[in-house]
Order: sequence, then C-alpha cells, then structure tokens
Amino acid sequence: MSDVDIRRAMDAGIEFIDLGAQRRRIGRRMDEAILRVVEHGKYIMGPEVAEFEKELADFCGAKHVLSCANGTDALGLALMAKNLKPGQAVLVPSFTFAATAEVVVWFDAVPIFVDVCADSFNLDPASLEAGIATARRSGLEPVGVIPVDLFGMPADYDEILAVAETHRLWVICDAAQSFGAAYRGRNVGTIGDITTTSFFPAKPLGCYGDGGAVFTDDDDIAGLLKSLRVHGQGSDKYDNVRIGMNARLDTIQAAVLIEKLRIFPEEIAERERAAAHYAALLEEKVTVPRVPSGLTSVWAQYTVRLPNGCNRDAVAAKLKAMGVPTAVYYTKPLHQQTAYRHYPAAGNGLPVSERLSEEVLSLPMHPYLDESTQGLIFEAMRMAME
Ligand SMILES: Cc1ncc(COP(=O)(O)O)c(C=O)c1O
Repeated sequence: MSDVDIRRAMDAGIEFIDLGAQRRRIGRRMDEAILRVVEHGKYIMGPEVAEFEKELADFCGAKHVLSCANGTDALGLALMAKNLKPGQAVLVPSFTFAATAEVVVWFDAVPIFVDVCADSFNLDPASLEAGIATARRSGLEPVGVIPVDLFGMPADYDEILAVAETHRLWVICDAAQSFGAAYRGRNVGTIGDITTTSFFPAKPLGCYGDGGAVFTDDDDIAGLLKSLRVHGQGSDKYDNVRIGMNARLDTIQAAVLIEKLRIFPEEIAERERAAAHYAALLEEKVTVPRVPSGLTSVWAQYTVRLPNGCNRDAVAAKLKAMGVPTAVYYTKPLHQQTAYRHYPAAGNGLPVSERLSEEVLSLPMHPYLDESTQGLIFEAMRMAME
C-alpha cells in the first residue's frame, strides 16, 4: 500500500459497522416512523409493537414472537419460562458474549462451559457430551443447553438437537447475532424449543437503542412469556400470578425496526456479497470463515483467524494506523473470565476456545462495504502482516 493508498483509506473513514450509510438510505423514513409514535403517544406497547412482532413471525416462520427489552432479557425470559431452578446445570459455549452464561447465574443455576469447533466458532457437539458427563460427575442435573450462533452462522443443530434429545435437555438458541440466517431449510427462530435474539444497534437487525425478541412454536411457553414480560401479570392486569420482569420493547424501537426489517433481506444479501469478496481476497493470508452447504450466515461479524505466530496486537495496531478499524471477539473465553472461572468446564479443558481467543480478528463488515474499500482493507492487511 502506498502512502497515497493509506491516505485514501484514512480519508475514506472506514467504519467497522457503518450505521451512517444505512441512515443516509432510510433515515427519513425512520424519523417519520419515530415521529408518528411521538405524536400518537403510545410509548409502551403501542400498535407498532404488535405490528413488528407479526412481521418478525412472518419473516422467520415462528408461530409466536414476543419482542422484549434486549437480548439478555430475552434469554432471561426463556429461562424463566423453562423454570430453571437453583443448582441445575445449563451447558453453554465458552467462546461467546457474557450474556449467554450470565443469565444462567441469575437463577443460581450453574453454567457448564463447553468448547467450540475451530472452523465454525460454534458449540462442539462432542464437547457438549463431555460437558453433560462433567455436570453429572459434579452431582449436578443438566437440564438444558444454550447453543450460540456466533458471528451470524447457525450452530450445528442436527448434532446438538440429537445430543439434547438423548439427554432430555431443552434447547434455547441464543440467536443474538444470527436473526435472518437459516439452517438446512429452517429459519433461525424456528429451530430449538425457544430462540432469543438481540436488536442491539450493531446487530445485523439493530434498533436505535436496546431491543430483543423471543421466538417459539409452543403455545404454552408463548403464554408464559407474555405474562413474564410484564411482571407475571394474569388475565386481570392487577392480579400478578407469577414473578416476572419488566422487559417490554419500547414502541419507538419497534417503529424503527419495522422500517429496518423492510430492507433487511437486501442488507443480508449485501453482507453475503461482502463476505464472499473478503474470502476471495484474504483466503491465502488468513483462515477465512466458511459457511457449510445448507446453512446461511447473516455475517454479524467477519472474523478471520491469523496464522500461528502472527502478533495480533501488532497487526491490529498497524491496521488502525492505516485507518482500518478491527475488533477482537473475544479476547478471553468465559471460562477464563473472573466472574465465571469457578464454574465447571467440559472434559479436560477447552483448548479450542482458548486458541481462538488468541487468533481471531474481526474486520469491518456491514451491507454498505464496497469492493474498493475491501480492496484497501486487504492491502492494509497484507502490509500489517509482513
Ligand atoms: C451471543 C449474545 N448473546 C446475548 C447478547 C445480549 O444481547 P443484548 O446486548 O441485546 O442484551 C449478545 C449481545 O451482544 C450476544 O452477542
């Protein structure tokens, strides 16, 4: 990369996630949608909330969709609906965002950390088996598993659902990063007993603040979730029949999401295009992510693995100096983090999670990333790795 190219990269102001580009495209429509809510004044559970839930259900094919305050509460609601009890064990991948395990601890239950596969970054079914054995050896009752669709690609559900069925575990899919993706003919939202997602602004479908949703085909669970979302209310609003939470999605966020959902299929296709172009550019320098046939990813992140011996911090610093922002998801697997290291890990440790946390680097990814910018990013990568 010449000095001129570096200046071009800096001038281009490469964004890690370019929400500004999306605003330039549909900002006016979103502003009008927000203003409509401000004018009708139904800020809580206004008509846009039910409309958005219906559109989400139509989009993915789930029978029931319940919007909620964020992806963490979505997981919490799902665990409440599953009646998770103190001391029970829930299997979770270690290579994920903290929320996946955090919610288990809310219930005084025990997260058992499971390893992931190096090529998919997703839960390893063999390690899941090992984790179930570890739980039993520790005298804990394993009741469920929370696979995560990391970086936008669904986990290996055929295998995971088979292991779960053998051991009578429920499956709550943490699809915070993967709403819009599909697994062998099934859309995310329709795969496990319950699916949860997040509309955090940086997610592929993100709002203008916090938001989330829970998906299920089970009528009883859907009824429970509805009550749990509003303090456990019964058919009489002031007769609360169970302990719940306040986890509603704001009407303004629903209005924003309705507009964003309209262009979401196009944006997914653009992410797919950007990912394919990255793979063509980068496959000889780094290990690029591959999506197995029959699956799709929504490319919440484009995460590569740097070769052995490559100094990631130095590469990231050089990229930053050339105007290319990067991020590391995740620098530490959960089983090594302060709040979680005393919980059990499957088998004899989680070597893949530990290795990935040293090798991964996420590059700019969003639907508005054009090929010339990707070319600059590739040139910068080449120089940074020299
Ligand atoms: C895998 C995973 N689970 C759960 C969450 C929690 O979502 P939220 O930030 O909306 O609470 C996130 C958010 O980053 C996530 O990536």
